[in-house]
Order: sequence, then structure tokens, then C-alpha cells
Amino acid sequence: MQRFRNDRWFTKRYQLADLYCQLDQIEQRCILMRSCSNSIESIPQIDFIFENSNELFISQHYIEKDNSATFNSYQRLAIDLDLMHKAGLVHGDLHPRNLIISHGRCYIIDFEPCYIQKRYNIRARMSSKFTWSELDRKENKLTSLTDKVGFYKVVSLFHGSDQPTLTLDYEKQLKELNCQNILEIIGNNNSFNPKMD
Ligand SMILES: Nc1ncnc2c1ncn2[C@@H]1O[C@H](COP(=O)(O)OP(=O)(O)O)[C@@H](O)[C@H]1O
Ligand SMILES: [Mg+2]
Repeated sequence: MQRFRNDRWFTKRYQLADLYCQLDQIEQRCILMRSCSNSIESIPQIDFIFENSNELFISQHYIEKDNSATFNSYQRLAIDLDLMHKAGLVHGDLHPRNLIISHGRCYIIDFEPCYIQKRYNIRARMSSKFTWSELDRKENKLTSLTDKVGFYKVVSLFHGSDQPTLTLDYEKQLKELNCQNILEIIGNNNSFNPKMD
């Protein structure tokens, strides 16, 4: 996979042979990513094109970061993640580096056309270090709950050390809690107070 950027777009080029997924599934996911980006503000515009029958280009609007996050930024992100899940799209790898903060908003980047890729003919998962989402990916259990755990970690970091840190057990608790939506995690006021406290 190669990356390019200009003032407007951040583009990734994939060899289809490196993606462990059926072509129609890849296309369906790309269509869903594009349509969600058309209607959900926290997802910068996404477009894609298949070329030369063996390549896929996915572009997303380039967002200049300014690290201006507030509690409200995460609350709006939570609402948009719930909308995204309602539309049937799971990000699958939510963590701070896959969020861009700009003008007080949190933007979601790094959507992948499928979750498992081959690199240099070696089967490789998307992220190099162990994460909860990687475990889910390995066990073929990626769902909106994976994004909920990712979101919980992101807001815990934002809130600093007085908030509970997720351990593997804690993550399990969050999964077992099976809250209906992400907005329930962050709550509706300025005290981030997860239910499993
Ligand atoms: N749409 C975008 N706007 C601004 N920066 C981006 C965008 N997409 C990617 N980046 C930057 O490039 C980095 C790597 O891109 P990403 O899509 O996360 O690839 P990967 O995690 O697979 O290396 C991001 O952490 C971010 O700093
Ligand atoms: Mg990334």
C-alpha cells in the first residue's frame, strides 16, 4: 500500500491482490464509506476508484490538525459514530492517531477497504502492535463494540489519569455491558462517568 497527499486529499493505493477479501465485499465497503462521508460530518469526504483491474485508490479530504479538542468535540464524535454504526459501517481501528482534531471537531480517518491485508506476500494485520481491535480482527469478531472500546480509550486519554484506565478485563466489562450506543459511554454532561465504575 502506498500513500500520497496534496493540499486537498490523502490517498492510499492498494494492490487488490494484497487484500484478503472478495472484490464485491471491498467495493460494497468502499461505497458505504463514501456514502457515510457524504452524510456524516465527522467523516471527511471519501472517494475511491478501481484502476487497471488490479488497483484500488481511496482518497479522503485532508484535514489540517490543530489539537483544539473539547468535551463537546468527543460528544459530537460519539453522535456521529452512532450514526455510522446505524448505517452499517464499523471503523474497526479507532485510536487517537486515527482521529484528527481540527476547529474543535474530531474527524475520523484511516478507513480501510477490508480488515486484513497481505504485505510482501506475508499475511499481515493492519496494525503492527497488539490492540483490542486486532484481537477482534483475528477472531473475526469486529463489530460496533470494537469501536466502542476504541472510543472509550480515546476519551479516557482525553480526560487524563483520574479516569479509569482500560485493562484487558475492563475492556471485557465494556464489551459485556453492551451499551446500545457510543453516546451512552460519554454521557450528556461534562462528567465522563462510565457506567461500569
Ligand atoms: N484525511 C487525512 N487528513 C489529515 N491527515 C491524514 C489523513 N489521513 C491520514 N492522515 C495522516 O497520515 C497518517 C497515516 O495515515 P493513516 O490513514 O492513519 O494510515 P496508517 O495508520 O495505515 O499508516 C495519520 O496518522 C495522519 O497523521
Ligand atoms: Mg492510522
